Amino acid sequence: MSGEPRLGDVFGELLRDAYAVHTGIGPRPLVGGRLPRPVIEIIERDDGLVNGAPAAHYLDGPEHWQPYDHRAVDRTRGATLDVGVGGGRIALLLQERGIPVTGLDTSPGALRVSRHRGVRDLVLGTVDEHVADGRRYDTFLLLGNNLGLFEGRERAPAFLAALAALARPGAQVIAHGTDPYGTTDPVHTGYHERNRRRGRLGGQLRLRLRYRELGTEWFDYLVCSAEELAELVRGTPWQLTDVDDRDAPYYLATLRLRGR
Ligand SMILES: C[S@@+](CC[C@H](N)C(=O)[O-])C[C@H]1O[C@@H](n2cnc3c(N)ncnc32)[C@H](O)[C@@H]1O
Repeated sequence: MSGEPRLGDVFGELLRDAYAVHTGIGPRPLVGGRLPRPVIEIIERDDGLVNGAPAAHYLDGPEHWQPYDHRAVDRTRGATLDVGVGGGRIALLLQERGIPVTGLDTSPGALRVSRHRGVRDLVLGTVDEHVADGRRYDTFLLLGNNLGLFEGRERAPAFLAALAALARPGAQVIAHGTDPYGTTDPVHTGYHERNRRRGRLGGQLRLRLRYRELGTEWFDYLVCSAEELAELVRGTPWQLTDVDDRDAPYYLATLRLRGR
């Protein structure tokens, strides 16, 4: 035993257990063999910072959502790809409203939970892989902070190119991001500074997720300001047309496909 986690579907397993606690369906992690154990997503950053976040909110119904989630859903139109669908909370409301939605995710376990909860159209894979499937969309959703999937300056252009290849004329991306620079906590401001010295964006986080004995590989997840986002989008097939920061530091960015 190395003390290192075994690589696995962290997100899928924690969603499965959160779902079991939420519904009573399936075996639940128990404290002392008796009481349901709250399911916590462990987020490790490469400077040693460790945070825990309860996973239950991935299953929350609309009555518990933040206002920006509702505004994102209200702006959704046409054939929609929910990128990183997770437990399907957004896709379920879209389905209810009659909006054709496809949930995409790299986690087989997350897709199982989404399917069990009633999301009808689900695809395993990344946006790049999905291009070959030949399906095209009017709206791309990156919710639950999934603007993070831009990763940083290196990955963002390819990610946006894949979305453009999946797009119908006039398509939009609605992405939820968080401006990381309001904090005065030296643990974070020091991390931002160290990143910049290494040529990275300040909020380009290097993370690993853990749940029980499982862990992911280390990956980059981007937390950036709207100004940095505008810079990343420049020169791509997309144009940043709106930043709704009514719930600052959280914001909803809307990108539109440029006319061809
Ligand atoms: C923070 S959760 C957000 C879930 C959901 N959007 C929500 O708001 O509840 C991130 C989700 O993105 C998925 N994911 C991570 N990397 C991905 C990638 N490269 N392509 C597609 N999905 C990905 C994860 O498996 C997880 O389900």
